Order: sequence, then C-alpha cells, then structure tokens
Amino acid sequence: MNSKDLKEALSALKYPGIERTIGELKLLGEIKVVAHVANIELLTISDESYLNVKKLIEENFANKYERLNITKKNLAKKDMNYGNSAAPNNRAPYAKNIIAVTSGKGGVGKSTVSVNIAIALAQKGYKVGILDADVYGPNIPRLTNTDVERIQWNDDDKIIPAENYGIKIMSVALTTPTQDTPLVWRSSVAVNALIQFLEDVAWGELDFMVIDMPPGTGDVQLTIAQELPIAAAVLVTTPQLVATDDVSRAVMMFKDIGVKMAGIVENMSFFIAPDTGTRYDIFGTGGGEKIAAKYQIPFLGAIPLDMQIREGSDKGEPPVSLGSAEQKKYYQDIVENILTHSDFNI
Ligand SMILES: Nc1ncnc2c1ncn2[C@@H]1O[C@H](COP(=O)(O)OP(=O)(O)OP(=O)(O)O)[C@@H](O)[C@H]1O
Ligand SMILES: [Mg+2]
Repeated sequence: MNSKDLKEALSALKYPGIERTIGELKLLGEIKVVAHVANIELLTISDESYLNVKKLIEENFANKYERLNITKKNLAKKDMNYGNSAAPNNRAPYAKNIIAVTSGKGGVGKSTVSVNIAIALAQKGYKVGILDADVYGPNIPRLTNTDVERIQWNDDDKIIPAENYGIKIMSVALTTPTQDTPLVWRSSVAVNALIQFLEDVAWGELDFMVIDMPPGTGDVQLTIAQELPIAAAVLVTTPQLVATDDVSRAVMMFKDIGVKMAGIVENMSFFIAPDTGTRYDIFGTGGGEKIAAKYQIPFLGAIPLDMQIREGSDKGEPPVSLGSAEQKKYYQDIVENILTHSDFNI
C-alpha cells in the first residue's frame, strides 16, 4: 500500500464507539510510506484519543508494513488548568460573534438562559444559532421543542441543524436514537463530536452563536475556549450562590484564560407568587450586583423564580417567545445589556 492508498484506508476506519470515521473526524495528518515503514501523523486533541486511534490503526495495519511509526501532533495545547484562549483557533468562521453561557455550578438555569437570549437576539433580527455544548446532559432540544427531530445530512454531506423559534439548533441529543438515550462517552469522543458540530453543520452565516456550556471546568470548556474566539461569556448564577467560591472560581477562570465577560445574570432571583403576582425577595436583593461590582463586570439582570418559566421551558415553549410580557422583558433586557456591554462585530 502506498501513501495515498494508506491514507484512504485509514480515513475509512471507524472511530471506536461512534459512527464516524477517522477521516470524517479530521484526525489524520501527514501520511507517508517509505521503504515498508508507514509514517502516520495523528491530529488529536487529547492523549486519550491519540491512544485510541493508534491502537485501532495497529490492529488493522500492523501486518501490512515492517513498522508503523505513529506520531501525534496535538491540535490544542493544554496550558495550566484550562488552556489558553488568548489566541484561539476559529472553528466557526461563519459566526460573527460567539457568546458562551456558563456557570460555576449545575442547575442554575444556563440552558434556559441560553435558549431565551438566543431567541431574544433572533427577535431583534439577528441570525442566531445555538450550540448545546452540554454533551453529557444535552437539553436544548427539549427546551426548543425540537427533541423529536433527528439529524439529517444535506447534499454537501453537512448536518442540517434543527430550527425553531427563529434559531438554528444543534445538540448531541439530536443524534441519539431517542432524546433520553444516556450518553456514556469518553471525554475525547465528546470533544470530537463538538468539533464536528462546529465544522460539519450547515449553520450558514450567523450573527451570533450562543453556546450552552456544561457546568464546571472540564475538557469541553477547555476545547471551546481553545477552538473558538469567544466574544462574550455570560455567567449565570443564583442568589444562593452569588457569595460563593463557585462564582468566584468561574470569574477567575475566564479572567485567567483571557475570555471577555459580558457579565452576570442572576437567575431564580426572587419569587413571584403565581396566584397574586406578589414579589418576594427570599434571598434578599442586590447579591448579583454586589458580586458584579466586586469583579468589575457588568450586572446584566435578574430573572425571578417563576413557575411559568419552568413549566413553559419544560414543554419547549420558551418564555421569551410564548410567555407573558414581563417574562419576555426579563430576557430581552438582558440581551440589550449584553449588546451594550460587549464589543460585538455587528
Ligand atoms: N427563572 C426560573 N424560574 C423557574 N424555574 C427555572 C428558572 N430558570 C430555570 N428554571 C428551571 O430550573 C431547572 C434547571 O434549569 P436549566 O436546565 O436551565 O439549568 P442548567 O444550569 O442548564 O442545568 P445543568 O447544569 O443541569 O445543565 C429547569 O427545570 C428549568 O426549567
Ligand atoms: Mg443545562
């Protein structure tokens, strides 16, 4: 087998555990066969995926050459704890601006905020896509009522994103047999899937790509920060958390890796009684503003703990689209503040 034939054969190998090939995942670098020695360069993001692919190649090709010389060229260098996004790649050149919605802790309302600010941007006439980067607990399809859809490919072999409420939507939940199929992925596979969602989805031109980040600071956050120029990070928190280390840690992480913070959203901030509409400041007021002031980042707004927000969201009826005038305004005001405080390319 010469270099060209080997490259073709390698491209067609299926990555262990998923239905995509090594070629489709763009894991092959330079391939050269010289005097019965095959030199194979792998473009991998983590050591784990390098070892997986190396083993796969050895199993299939060891008997065809005198020696396999499999090397790796790491695509993204892991610095310190979180990598360094000072000079990130741009895997999404079709998106003018990337907004990452994050939090220090899970369950604070990131996904709900992501969906509603993406729709609020679309309501202003912008072209918007939302990428569900929560590859282990994807729920953007449920929140946008697209969870029965399954991905399809267009004639250029690109994935067609789902679409609803004026935004384009991509999530691993659209690729599994049913939306609640559990995803037990190695992190290298999850990261590769995400890269594919950036590169192989027919997003078209976007003014904004909103990314719903998974909670915490793992491989996925690292990848996003390294592979995309994030124009603005929106930090979602709750009043119980405002004074905690989780919020401080998240703010420090973004400062560390050089990602610009658009500001803080305080979710489930106060309670509106469903029967009387009375507002109760259960956790006091002003926590979000205080923490924003402490770190000198903008306070983008507060959203109440509201039963209708939860019920609507769970049914795939986003409050900014189908909720009351007040509910719409919470998210629309936050979007106005994000636009005011960030330096977007629009
Ligand atoms: N303002 C709100 N009022 C009432 N319920 C809310 C509000 N915001 C979010 N919720 C509800 O809280 C739950 C968690 O919200 P969501 O899934 O958006 O959080 P998350 O931070 O994305 O969680 P995870 O870390 O698990 O991804 C959901 O049931 C959602 O409907
Ligand atoms: Mg979520």
